[in-house]
Amino acid sequence: MRRAAVLLLALAVSCRAAFAPPTVNISLDDDPDVRWAPLMKVFDVEFLKKAGAEVIDSTVPKWVHHAVAPIVMALEKYIPQPYAGEIRGMASHFGGSLSDVIILNFAYEVSAFCTSIIAQDKIGHVYHGRNLDYPHPVLRNLTVNIIFLKNGKVAYRGTSFAGYVGLWTGQSPNKFTVSGDQRGSEHWWNWWKNVVSAFLFRRSPVSWLVRETLEEAEDFQDAVMRLSKIPIITGVYYIVGGVQAGEGVVITRDREGPADIWPLDPMNGRWYRVETNFDHWLPPPAWDHRREAANKALNATLQEHINMDTLYQVLSLYPVCNGITVYTTIMSAGAPEKYNTVVRPQGCPHTN
Ligand SMILES: *[C@@H]1O[C@H](CO)[C@@H](O)[C@H](O)[C@H]1NC(C)=O
Ligand SMILES: *[C@@H]1O[C@H](CO)[C@@H](O)[C@H](O)[C@H]1NC(C)=O
Ligand SMILES: *[C@@H]1O[C@H](CO)[C@@H](O)[C@H](O)[C@H]1NC(C)=O
Repeated sequence: MRRAAVLLLALAVSCRAAFAPPTVNISLDDDPDVRWAPLMKVFDVEFLKKAGAEVIDSTVPKWVHHAVAPIVMALEKYIPQPYAGEIRGMASHFGGSLSDVIILNFAYEVSAFCTSIIAQDKIGHVYHGRNLDYPHPVLRNLTVNIIFLKNGKVAYRGTSFAGYVGLWTGQSPNKFTVSGDQRGSEHWWNWWKNVVSAFLFRRSPVSWLVRETLEEAEDFQDAVMRLSKIPIITGVYYIVGGVQAGEGVVITRDREGPADIWPLDPMNGRWYRVETNFDHWLPPPAWDHRREAANKALNATLQEHINMDTLYQVLSLYPVCNGITVYTTIMSAGAPEKYNTVVRPQGCPHTN
């Protein structure tokens, strides 16, 4: 136990200099076209343009970029509200091309590697932590905490990237928390075909379903139902935490519905669940040690000692946190004011 504690400390130190991203308030009472304007107060427009171009260039081959621009414009009328208005507004705030902002809103969904952990302490508090890994360093400077307000009150909050209208990480206060981890990987071109057909079939991108669930679900059970059943563009893992003991689950999603539901089972000693980017009932590929490292660190932490700080330490351990980790969020729906995101300026380099 002491050795584990020393190890955790050493690794936490090697990931120092993490910083808090800016926070912006977005009012859902404002028109979708103008509600993202507050972003411009904390981000430099020229930087946003450059960063957006960088993400597109490194995700989408140039010829594909040219080829899809007209398709994207034709598709625009199929994008449902409020996203259509928000994306259009974003393009006009940035002075960027509308097709590029649309592409950006889908490009992020292609290669997000992640680790999500849900854990419960001995008293029954539920904690939820996530690392978002993505191979674009520029995203560290685009990370932003967003507070969505309705009638001047906090409706829900989340962490995202400037210019992106979906959420991969979020919290509905005193109800539930949710994170999404990519499932499987697809070539950009195949994936793009899914996007097109999805719009024609009116399926939701996975990050939009997160936002809608945060906005509409009554409680943990309702959130789990929606995140399990509503058709989406591509497979994903949704990790959901609630406010009562036992309210924690990993949902493995196919496009049409749930492939598997994996709840906490604290009565039988299963007080945490770790999800990376592979089905939990299968071994991960031999090159990926994140799941095993997180399980080992949680076992060493013990249920008696799990809390937001120790969960952060587990998410700071190499390779759970690694060279492409962009940010870490720690949250607990029952203590919504403690929602905390830190950006990892250099990820967590391998130190030994
Ligand atoms: C955001 O909204 C909250 C809740 O109304 C308020 O307390 C806070 O001061 C606002 N922050 C900014 C930066 O406007
Ligand atoms: C992010 O911002 C920091 C501070 O402004 C800067 O030093 C760094 O180069 C930026 N990183 C990227 C990838 O743009
Ligand atoms: C963690 O503990 C569980 C329950 O005792 C055990 O099944 C699992 O093998 C342990 N995992 C690691 C990586 O030590």
